[in-house]
Amino acid sequence: MADRPRVFVSRVIPDDGLEAIREVCEMDLWERDLPPPRDELLRRVAGCDGVLTLLTDRVDDEFLDAAGKKLRVVSNYAVGFDNIDVAACARRGIPVGNTPGVLTDTTADLAWALLMAAARRLPEGDRYVRAGNWKTWGPLLLLGPDVHGATIGIVGFGRIGQAVARRAQGFGMEILYHDVQELPRDVTEPFGATFLPLEDLLARSDFVSLHVNLSEVTRHLINAETLSWMKPTAVLVNTSRGPVVDQRALADALRNGVIWAAGLDVTDPEPIPMDDPLVGLDNCLIVPHIASASPATRGKMAAMAAANLLAGVRGEPLPTQVPPPA
Ligand code: GLV
Ligand code: GLV
Repeated sequence: MADRPRVFVSRVIPDDGLEAIREVCEMDLWERDLPPPRDELLRRVAGCDGVLTLLTDRVDDEFLDAAGKKLRVVSNYAVGFDNIDVAACARRGIPVGNTPGVLTDTTADLAWALLMAAARRLPEGDRYVRAGNWKTWGPLLLLGPDVHGATIGIVGFGRIGQAVARRAQGFGMEILYHDVQELPRDVTEPFGATFLPLEDLLARSDFVSLHVNLSEVTRHLINAETLSWMKPTAVLVNTSRGPVVDQRALADALRNGVIWAAGLDVTDPEPIPMDDPLVGLDNCLIVPHIASASPATRGKMAAMAAANLLAGVRGEPLPTQVPPPA
């Protein structure tokens, strides 16, 4: 009993993960709906062998100091890891786990739902009906751009970007992509995807979907200048991380017709304050960071995060480890 590893799990995740952890570890589980406040988090991780964190928990030097010398693993319940100072973990020899792969298609589905819904104005139409405004069939009522046959620009052509491209193929779209570098032909050819510099991609795309990691390079990648390169009829979709978009510039662009509409799964900050200008705009659709939110996928993420946590506390290689910075 005494040598069971001690772990802190910072929110209730599906049983697919919790049961495996409970079998092996002394688990301290944060059971409330809201994340642990910072001081509580730092107190709870003290002396732990492993921690299972969410994207709402910041893991930095302060956190690692609070956890102390026994900490052997940080397992993040997400594919993204911008909440974690991976370099600080690496300096202390602590591996960081994430949950890539299992959420790729579920996230691409949601990106596609946002794209379709923003283009065809589903939230506006729903609000219109419920407000009792539907009086007759209207030749000019709630027109929105065609998705089929349009051009999509995918920014970040990793797993999720490619899964979005697969969906776009079914809609007969022309597929453009941008990434830090042009990808090998055998990756892009099945999609008929064409590499373009960001400026050309934004200028040519009817739909732009963001699938980059958040880093110092991608922070505010979409800003007043890059928005001005887009078509006035274009739709922007963001399922990556809120800070990839300069939100104030986006609100101006949507208000002034620089672009036509946006569909957001992520905002900066989260939750988005109710007095943020985007909240008042009819051509901005916002959902609360739910891209991976299917029961099946959240279950797989839980199993994967648990496997990383358990490997870490045993001192074994993590099944899916975030590569330490070079
Ligand atoms: C969610 O945004 C994730 O990174 O898994
Ligand atoms: C995330 O899974 C990505 O590489 O797009």
